[in-house]
This record gives sequence, C-alpha cells and structure tokens, in this order.
Amino acid sequence: MKRASRLEKLPPYLYVEIRRKTREAQARGVDVISLGVGDPDMPTPQHVIDALNKAAADPANHQYPTGEDRGMPAFRTAVTDWYKRRFTVTLDPETEAMALIGSKEGNHHIALGLLDPGDVAIVPDPGYPAYIASAIFAGAEVARVPLRAEDGFLVDFDAIPADLARKAKCIWLSYPNNPTTATATVDFYRRAVAWAKKYDVVLVSDNPYSEISFDGLYVPSILEAEGAKDVAVEFNSLSKPYNMTGWRIGMAVGNADIISAIAKVKENTDSGQFNAIQYAGIAALEGPQDIVKSNLVVYKRRRDLAVDALRAIGLELDAPKATFYVWAPIPKGQTSIEFAGRLLDETGVVVTPGIGYGSRGEGFIRLSLSVPDPRLEEALARIKKVKDRLPSGAGGR
Ligand SMILES: Cc1ncc(COP(=O)(O)O)c(C=O)c1O
Repeated sequence: MKRASRLEKLPPYLYVEIRRKTREAQARGVDVISLGVGDPDMPTPQHVIDALNKAAADPANHQYPTGEDRGMPAFRTAVTDWYKRRFTVTLDPETEAMALIGSKEGNHHIALGLLDPGDVAIVPDPGYPAYIASAIFAGAEVARVPLRAEDGFLVDFDAIPADLARKAKCIWLSYPNNPTTATATVDFYRRAVAWAKKYDVVLVSDNPYSEISFDGLYVPSILEAEGAKDVAVEFNSLSKPYNMTGWRIGMAVGNADIISAIAKVKENTDSGQFNAIQYAGIAALEGPQDIVKSNLVVYKRRRDLAVDALRAIGLELDAPKATFYVWAPIPKGQTSIEFAGRLLDETGVVVTPGIGYGSRGEGFIRLSLSVPDPRLEEALARIKKVKDRLPSGAGGR
C-alpha cells in the first residue's frame, strides 16, 4: 500500500514525537513528568456532565445530530449569547455561528472550504502545527511569516511583502498565542482587518485560549474590530475554559460566507457533533462560570512557580499574561531539541522544543502547566536541583 503523498509533506507531528520519547524514557524506568501537552488536568464541571447524561438518555438524541452541518439551533444561540455577553459582539445564530468538533476541526475544515491546490496560506512562525497540516491537506502552499519577540510576537502586517499578501488567500492569527503566550489588542485586530481588506485575504482567528488570561488582562475577539465580519472567522472552544478537551466541542463565528463554506465541508464529512454533547456545551456556556475563574487561580499559581524555577536555573523570562504555557528562551549555543533532551535525561521532565512550532521557535522551549500541582512541583524541584548540569546564559534567538 502506498500512502498519499500529502502525508509525506507533513512536518513530524510534534506531540507524537514527544509521546514516543516519553515512552522510551518510561521503558528505561524513568518516572517521567510531561509538561509537553496542553490538556487541562482538572475535571469538567458536574452540571455539564449531568446535562450530557440527561441528553444521552433521550432517544431523540440517538439519531444523526440536528442541523448536521452547523449544529443545533439551541447550541448556536448559546454561542451567540455568550459572544454578546463576553465580547459585546452581535451575531446571527442562523448564519454567523456554527458548532465544531473542537476548534481544531474548524482549522482543518476551513482549509478544505477555502483553499484550492496551489493557493497560498500564511501561517505565522512559530505557530500551532495543525494550521500547516490543514493547509497541506488542502493542497495549498504555506508561507510563513515571522513572529518576533521584539514585536510582542504579533504579526507585523507592514513587513509582509505586498506580492505575498496579494497571492495569499488566508492568514492564521491566534491570540492568546500557543506557543508564545502573546496576546493581542482590538487595535491589532483593526490593523489586521485593514490589511486583509486591502489585499482580499481571509483572517482566520483561532481563539481557544480567550478565557485564560491573568492579572485582569482583557482578551478580545477579532470580531470586536469594526468591519471584521467582512473578512474574518473566529474559532473558539469549550476545551480549555471548561476542562472539556475530550468532549470535542467548539464553535466558529463570523463571516457568513466562510461559515457556510465550512458547513458545506462538514455536511459531506462528519455530520456534526452528538446532540448530547451539544446540550452539555449549552450547559457549560449558560451555567455557572465559577470553573473558568477557579482554573485561572490554579494556572496563575502554577505559572508563578514555573517562572521562578526557570529563573532559578538562569533562564530570563517574563511571566506570561495568558494561556497555560510558559515560553522560555534557552541559553544560546544549543538547539531547543538538545536542551529539551538534556532536561529529559537529567530530570525526567518533558518540555516541548520550540523548533517544533517552526524555525522561529528555535531558541525556546514551551512548558505546559496543565499537570496536577504535586507533579508540577516535583518537576520544578527536579529542574532546580540540576541547575549546575544544565547549560546557562542569556537565550532566545
Ligand atoms: C492554538 C490551538 N488551537 C486549537 C487547539 C485545539 O483545541 P480544541 O480542543 O478546541 O480542538 C489547540 C489545542 O491545544 C491550540 O493550542
């Protein structure tokens, strides 16, 4: 059997590599602590589980999902009500909102709905690896634009060459950003919208970390920028704020034509998410929001512990303002893979080498804080202990 050549074009999927390395160390008897994958360790709230159980017991929900391509009207309305409350953004639940099987699904299906073979998609570097995979599956060419520390890891639209901008069909934006933890303002989105209109480029805003920010920082939606709905779609997700990564439920909102293109792809592929999970999603969006706040208390404490530990071993970094990641510059003179490998050998702690997010991620590592407190504390204690055996000095690119 010969596999499709598109699979050969994919960069190695980062988390698969990490899982393999972890298994190898475990096989050697190492008590590995993985700070590699971003996957909340805390449970889904009980009222959401109850809503699932109730809906799952109703045979009406055992058939194909309602509104296969866009999701249940009640879920879409819960989404648009939430966008109104959270961002003061007004959306039509009929045409400007749809259910997704997680925001990752939206990122993939928009590529199939938007990109023809040979089209150009702009993907910031570093960036979440699934954007590239999705564009490649659609047969598109991927052009990477750099995110630089000195620009706050924001896309510099003025620096994108005009001929690339004219050729590009879409650009992915994602703030709060994985892996850099950078955040954006509405003003940044205004610049994005002006640029997109000038060059007729679709803005794909992947915003699953919108609810994870610290110290009172306001995280906007791209749709708060005037005119954004003309050119933008935004993906959001219940995965991170409600500890629901396993449930696979998210949403797309924004430009009606883009939503309809994604819906067309879904109609012909997955037939939508189980109604009972959509009911659970409604319970999450409309029920008590304590979990969102209590998660932040946990992540903030973990963030502070991790930043202290990394500073103690000589890494220079600011405390991240959002996401449950820490993006740390490593000392110069070694690659991020070498540093991460050394850390694993010396401490049994897995971190993600920045190169996995693109060449501009070289010089950094990413730590995920989505592990239980005792394990994180143990990991950080081990890291501090081997300070003298790790390379030191100023870092970054
Ligand atoms: C930037 C980004 N987008 C999308 C996803 C996928 O989230 P979901 O669970 O909503 O599919 C992740 C998950 O880590 C992510 O980091």
